[in-house]
Amino acid sequence: MTCSIHPSILSADFVNLEAELARISTADAVHVDVMDNHFVPNLTLGLPVVQRLQAVSPVPLDAHLMIADADRWAPLYADLGIASVTFHAEAATAPIKLARELRARGSKAGMALRPATAVEPYLDMLAELDMLLVMTVEPGFGGQSFLDVTLPKIRRARAAVDGSGAKVAIQVDGGISEATIERAAEAGADVFVAGSAVYGVDDPGAAVEKLRGLAQAAARR
Ligand code: DX5
Ligand code: ZN
Repeated sequence: MTCSIHPSILSADFVNLEAELARISTADAVHVDVMDNHFVPNLTLGLPVVQRLQAVSPVPLDAHLMIADADRWAPLYADLGIASVTFHAEAATAPIKLARELRARGSKAGMALRPATAVEPYLDMLAELDMLLVMTVEPGFGGQSFLDVTLPKIRRARAAVDGSGAKVAIQVDGGISEATIERAAEAGADVFVAGSAVYGVDDPGAAVEKLRGLAQAAARR
């Protein structure tokens, strides 16, 4: 299994986003947290900023939409030509239709689950997804502590993905650091979002390499 690291620009300097992207050019993609102050109690950025990030980023964009009415808004992010668009299951009325719409518009389709949302109701739609995001903190803010209570869900998701034969990445987001990434990898995650653990240190590029090495070694165990 190949492990990918997606730094989250939520922990970057929002006044210098182009320069902040250049610092993580060794990453596999950049994770862009879109928050609307409705689905989560925080506000970040929207379509015009994502469009500019897409224009200047050295790596593909992985948009994590923490927004209400995903059915309406997520396709507009796919229309920007970004590599991957992830909506929250709790914010979508018709997740299968939405995932198909994202793929039809050329993006990979991701679906996210809050920590207390069970994966089981969605197992029959795995083949509609390119990525399943298991949130490992309550969405809304960077710098929170990893919730170990989500590990069994990651394991169940991994077993279901492997059993289904579908090619679905399992992403974890929240509290991922050198201290926690191995636990998530051992449970079966293969795409790791890290905000503060990458942008909170002097050398984000080195942090990406270190995290990837730890995850890769843990996944092989
Ligand atoms: C939280 C966001 C995360 C956040 C992770 O709602 O979805 O992507 O940036 O930040 P850290 O890695 O600091 O927990
Ligand atoms: Zn995120």
